[in-house]
Amino acid sequence: MTKTVFLFLFCCLMKSSVSKNTINQDHLNRGSFLSVDDDAHLITSSDNTFTCGFYGFQTNAYWFAIWFTNSKDRTVVWTANSNNPVNGHGSKLTLHTNGAMVLTDIDGTIVWGTNTTSTDVDRAVLLNTGNLVLMNTKDQILWQSFDYPTDTLLPSQTLTKSKSLKSTLRKGSFQPGYYSFSYNSINILTLLYDGPEISSVYWPSPDPGFNIWDYRRTSYNSSRIAVFNDLGVFKSSDLLRFNASDMGFGIRRRLTMDYDGNLRFYSLNESTGLWSISWQAVAQPCNIHGICGRNGICVYGGKPECSCPPHYEWSEPTDFSQGCKPTFNRTCVNSTTFGFLPMRYTDYFGFDLKFSSSISFESCRNMCLADCRCQAFVYKLPGIGDCYVKSALFNGYRYPKFAGTMYLKIPIGMQTPESASIPTGSKPTCADVPVTIGFPSMYESSGGKVKWVYLYSFAIAFGLVEALVIVMGWWIFYGNNELLKNLEEGYSMVSSQFRGFSYKELMKATQNFKVEIGRGGPGVVYKGILEDERVVAVKRLGDVSDGGEFLTELSTIGRINHMNLVRMWGFCSQRQHKLLVYEYVENESLDKRLFSTTFLQWKERFEVAIGIAKGLAYLHHECLEWVIHCDVKPENILLDGAFQPKIADFGLAKLSQRGGPNSNFTQVRGTKGYMAPEWAHNLPITAKVDVYSYGVVILELTKGIRLSNVSVHGGEEEESELMRFARGTKTKIRSAKGLWIEEIVDPRLGGLFSRKQAATLVEVGLSCVEKDRHKRPTMDSVVQVLVDCEPE
Ligand SMILES: *[C@@H]1O[C@H](CO)[C@@H](O)[C@H](O)[C@H]1NC(C)=O
Ligand SMILES: *[C@@H]1O[C@H](CO)[C@@H](O)[C@H](O)[C@H]1NC(C)=O
Ligand SMILES: *[C@@H]1O[C@H](CO)[C@@H](O)[C@H](O)[C@H]1NC(C)=O
Ligand SMILES: *[C@@H]1O[C@H](CO)[C@@H](O)[C@H](O)[C@H]1NC(C)=O
Ligand SMILES: *[C@@H]1O[C@H](CO)[C@@H](O)[C@H](O)[C@H]1NC(C)=O
Ligand SMILES: *[C@@H]1O[C@H](CO)[C@@H](O)[C@H](O)[C@H]1NC(C)=O
Repeated sequence: MTKTVFLFLFCCLMKSSVSKNTINQDHLNRGSFLSVDDDAHLITSSDNTFTCGFYGFQTNAYWFAIWFTNSKDRTVVWTANSNNPVNGHGSKLTLHTNGAMVLTDIDGTIVWGTNTTSTDVDRAVLLNTGNLVLMNTKDQILWQSFDYPTDTLLPSQTLTKSKSLKSTLRKGSFQPGYYSFSYNSINILTLLYDGPEISSVYWPSPDPGFNIWDYRRTSYNSSRIAVFNDLGVFKSSDLLRFNASDMGFGIRRRLTMDYDGNLRFYSLNESTGLWSISWQAVAQPCNIHGICGRNGICVYGGKPECSCPPHYEWSEPTDFSQGCKPTFNRTCVNSTTFGFLPMRYTDYFGFDLKFSSSISFESCRNMCLADCRCQAFVYKLPGIGDCYVKSALFNGYRYPKFAGTMYLKIPIGMQTPESASIPTGSKPTCADVPVTIGFPSMYESSGGKVKWVYLYSFAIAFGLVEALVIVMGWWIFYGNNELLKNLEEGYSMVSSQFRGFSYKELMKATQNFKVEIGRGGPGVVYKGILEDERVVAVKRLGDVSDGGEFLTELSTIGRINHMNLVRMWGFCSQRQHKLLVYEYVENESLDKRLFSTTFLQWKERFEVAIGIAKGLAYLHHECLEWVIHCDVKPENILLDGAFQPKIADFGLAKLSQRGGPNSNFTQVRGTKGYMAPEWAHNLPITAKVDVYSYGVVILELTKGIRLSNVSVHGGEEEESELMRFARGTKTKIRSAKGLWIEEIVDPRLGGLFSRKQAATLVEVGLSCVEKDRHKRPTMDSVVQVLVDCEPE
């Protein structure tokens, strides 16, 4: 008898302690509380996706928060008291009998509370959507956490007029930072940097040349509401639309305003608990404002890094976001005592005292000199002569694509040559040439848990190009030439010149394929003249896959527009006829200008090396879709009238090769001698195969002879000339100190070349042809190294 009673009591005790403390419930009743001292006392949504309770961070700092139960690092999606963490002992969250939910600290002070006092709240429930709601007995919602977002938006949660997503100050902290995502006063969703000194919008890009319609947004709908659904499709009343790259049901997602100023879509892998990025707003992180502080310059080579201009030093050496301060006395009494230090490819955003277009360099310079407020001016090349006179230097970035130079105002006598003073701790510069350069996985060090799997394919900045994508994509699906014509008229500014041609049109343009100008790759190339008198090269493709895929691939290639890539103007796909229409490039291909009696001078060779690098870097890192060329060689590099290189035949690897961007290439492509060892060893094919081929090309540029010939050497052993050259050169570099370069550079130049540039080119070339693809640099970092070496 006693035993039974005892057992009964024991069971009851067990049961009550279980229900109170260890088994998680999805609600908290009126009159009860959660205590920070009891780790196990949590509210969990009925499907276990979300958990709500006290969340400890650092020592003795606790937040009342909601997080993903099954993500590895308990990713927080909402906090009640971001600004005011509470003590790790004695803090309580109470649902008072008066209806209010209140968070109190150890001493009883109210840190946070809901506005539901004297309502009939019955319980707090954590819904499966991640929404914490206060309900009455009729299940009406009186308060919900979805109305007070912090840095994250969840599916079905709306972002409206009065709400914003605000970044945290640092990774892992919950204190609000300086970045936010919200509607602006003209109904457009924007990313805003609101820092201690300045505030500015950086997305959509504030480039004065664009207006909102260029981003396919509208400011006319004032309802200001945005939401994304379980499929991963985000829609806003300003017509902003974007999709998660892994679009589909059944994946847990969040849209987070990250501490680094980028807005990202994340998808949870439930088996590993890790997040992958499936969309992000800003492709080029240096375009995010406020990264490097006043006077600081953001340099991107795989990940953003801050640097100070010459004669400036860190304001706070432990925190680069505090910017830089001048080491000279800036007081301007007599402005003629100042001079200028040029910094190529560098720009600062905003704070223009004056903007003038079409003016001479001299007048621009004098304008800055005459005004004591001017701290620098930017002169934009080539030819147009845009002049920006700057009163303050914020949001600086250095980016090889920027067609301008910044002239920093400093006291006379302090100017030094630029190459000696591009300052950054770890960036490779021309002077000390790197043999290993960083990898492109940005923020790998800071965001170790984040996988950048979708980076290449979906690093999309919504802009002009995106508008074209949407137009093109839609047309490709339902496409016929009639439709395209209509669209072209409507969006003539947006869609550039890419269009479909009829077979008849091209027959006429090429006079029935009369003048053959090239052969190779997957087709024959003919010269032609279109009705609008444009000269074109028409490539007739032999064997390509079926129509639908052909068009899809073309939509990718058609979007690519870069001065170092041969522009595709259109195509024809009628029955068995598959033709591509390219711009016609005046001069011959590089091989004819390198390996024959007419040869390029050094200056041109170096420009060619930089141009090819920029073109490939664009294909690898900036395109809307990941493109590997797979057949980089002198024959595929055309030279225009000014000997600027233009890469031909990109994207064709995809045309005759199906599969997703990361799929294995089953068929070997490329040209012997320029092909990376991966092809032979059946290793995954990545952009690094192009880096290898590029290395061969620039070594050939330096040496002036083919290195890609495969020669039989020492009996059966097949060794390429390249490998012998690489081995020999490395030995020379180690032993000869400086003089080795004379022996390597093309003797036809008669010694007329820059030693520094040549040495850089050889060393970059050697690092590009490393057998191990991980040791090869990325094209982005190659560009950085080479432009540092460019003469002013
Ligand atoms: C509490 O605030 C929300 C949002 O501001 C409002 O919609 C709601 O009506 C308020 N509730 C009460 C009871 O005042
Ligand atoms: C404004 O946007 C909302 C939400 O996207 C939509 O429901 C509404 O129809 C739009 N109004 C107009 C006039 O387009
Ligand atoms: C996103 O997905 C929707 C629905 O499938 C589609 O209509 C739309 O074109 C997609 N938008 C983009 C930008 O890819
Ligand atoms: C989740 O991660 C595992 C291990 O990395 C991987 O095998 C699996 O394909 C991933 N699942 C999804 C849906 O990405
Ligand atoms: C800078 O120069 C001005 C005038 O020449 C002088 O008054 C001022 O004290 C100097 N400031 C510093 C920090 O040296
Ligand atoms: C400024 O300095 C220059 C040269 O030092 C001198 O010629 C000129 O008169 C000065 N101007 C003023 C306004 O002091």
